[in-house]
Amino acid sequence: MKTIRFGIIGLGLMGREIASAVARWCHLEDLDFRPELAAICSRTLPPGRADWFKNNFPTLRQVTTDYRELIANPEVDAIYCAVPHHLHAELYSAIIRGGKHLLGEKPFGIDQPANAAILAELRARPGLVVRCSSEFPFFPGVQRIFRMAEEGAFGRIIEAGTGFLHSSDLDPAKPINWKRTLKLNGEYGVMGDLGLHGCHFPFRAGWNPLNVRAILSNIVTERPDGKGGMAPCETWDNATLLCDAEDRQGTRFPWTLKTQRIAPGQKNTWYLEICGTKASVRFSTKNPKRLEFLNYTGGEQAWQEIDVGYTSAFKTLTGEIFEFGFSDSILQMTSAFFYEIVHGRPLRPSAGCVTPEETALSHRLFTAALRSQAGSSTETV
Ligand SMILES: NC(=O)c1ccc[n+]([C@@H]2O[C@H](COP(=O)([O-])OP(=O)(O)OC[C@H]3O[C@@H](n4cnc5c(N)ncnc54)[C@H](O)[C@@H]3O)[C@@H](O)[C@H]2O)c1
Repeated sequence: MKTIRFGIIGLGLMGREIASAVARWCHLEDLDFRPELAAICSRTLPPGRADWFKNNFPTLRQVTTDYRELIANPEVDAIYCAVPHHLHAELYSAIIRGGKHLLGEKPFGIDQPANAAILAELRARPGLVVRCSSEFPFFPGVQRIFRMAEEGAFGRIIEAGTGFLHSSDLDPAKPINWKRTLKLNGEYGVMGDLGLHGCHFPFRAGWNPLNVRAILSNIVTERPDGKGGMAPCETWDNATLLCDAEDRQGTRFPWTLKTQRIAPGQKNTWYLEICGTKASVRFSTKNPKRLEFLNYTGGEQAWQEIDVGYTSAFKTLTGEIFEFGFSDSILQMTSAFFYEIVHGRPLRPSAGCVTPEETALSHRLFTAALRSQAGSSTETV
C-alpha cells in the first residue's frame, strides 16, 4: 500500500469536497495506494474552517496561510489547488516548479496566456502528473457512453450536445461573488467557470472543434454588493457555442456546448447527448441513474431507458443497484489522479482526469468564442 502525502491549497467549497473524498478512502476497494492529508493552506483561515480540518484529519501536520510554505514542505508529494481563476497561473506554476504532482481546478489559467504559462512550466518538469479537475464523466452513465464511443457504437455521429446548467444566479437579489468579476473570474465568464465540464467528454472522445459561433449573454447586470449598494456584474452569465466538430475518423458534425448560470429549473445539471446513425444516447445528472438510448437496426425507432446504477470505474463497496452522486464522482476523480501518480497511466482513457493539453484546447475554444461574440462571426478554433 503506497501512501501519497497530500496537500490542499484553497479551502473553500472544492477544497473541502476533495478533503472529504480523502476521508472516505475506506469506501474504495482493490487500490494499492491511499492519500494522507498532510498539509492545508488558505489565504485566510477562519477558526471554524481550520478546526474542521484539524478535527477530521489526525494526519494533518501543517496549517499555513502561505502557499509557498506548503509547496516547500518535503512531506507533501501531491497538491490539490482550488483558488479563484486569477491565481491559477501563479500558484499552479509554483507547485510545478516545486516538483509536486498537481490536481488543479478549471479553467486552468484565467485566460489563454495564463494557461500557456502553466503548460510551459510543465514542459520543464515532464515527470510530474498534472491534471485538471472535472468529475462528471466519472458518473457510471457517462463511463458507459465512453465505452460505446470506443466500440464505434454510434455509427456516424449526426449531432451532439453537451452542457452544464445552473440556476444559482437566477435570483437577482443574490449578492455578487468573485465569479461575476472580470479581475478574478476572467473574460470567459461562465465558460471559464463551467465550460471545461462540457468539454471533457468531447475532447477525450477525440472530437476536435474546428470553428465556433458563440452567443454569450449577460442577463443580470448588477447585484447587491453586500455593503448596502449595488455592484456591476461584468461577466457572461450564459453561453451557447455551436461548433463544427470533427471526430477521429475525420467526420464533421455539429456540437453544441451550453454553459448557463441562469437556467431556470436546473440546479447542477451536466448533460451529454449524442445522436448517431446506429445509436443515440442521452444522459443527465438530473436523473443520475438513467441512461436513455436508441439502437437503430432498421424498422421502428424506440427510445429505451435503463438504470445504470453504481458501476463506477474504481470499485467501491457500494452495490451496483444503488445511486451514484456528486460526491461519489469527486471520489472517483480523486482516485483517478492518484492512480496516475502511482501507475504512470490512467486505469483506462475514460477513467483519466483532464490533461493540460485538453485544457489548452478548451482555452482555444473559449478565446475563439469571445471573438465570435464580439464580431457576430464564426471563428476558427
Ligand atoms: N470541479 C468543480 O465542480 C468545481 C466547483 C466549484 C468551483 N470549482 C473551481 O474551484 C476553484 C475555487 O473555487 P471555489 O468555489 O472553491 O472558491 P471559493 O471562493 O469557495 O474558495 C477559494 C479559496 O481560495 C482561497 N485563496 C484565495 N487566495 C489564496 C491564496 N493566495 N493562497 C491560498 N489560498 C487562497 C480562499 O481563502 C478560499 O478558501 C475555481 O477554479 C473554480 O472554478 C470547481
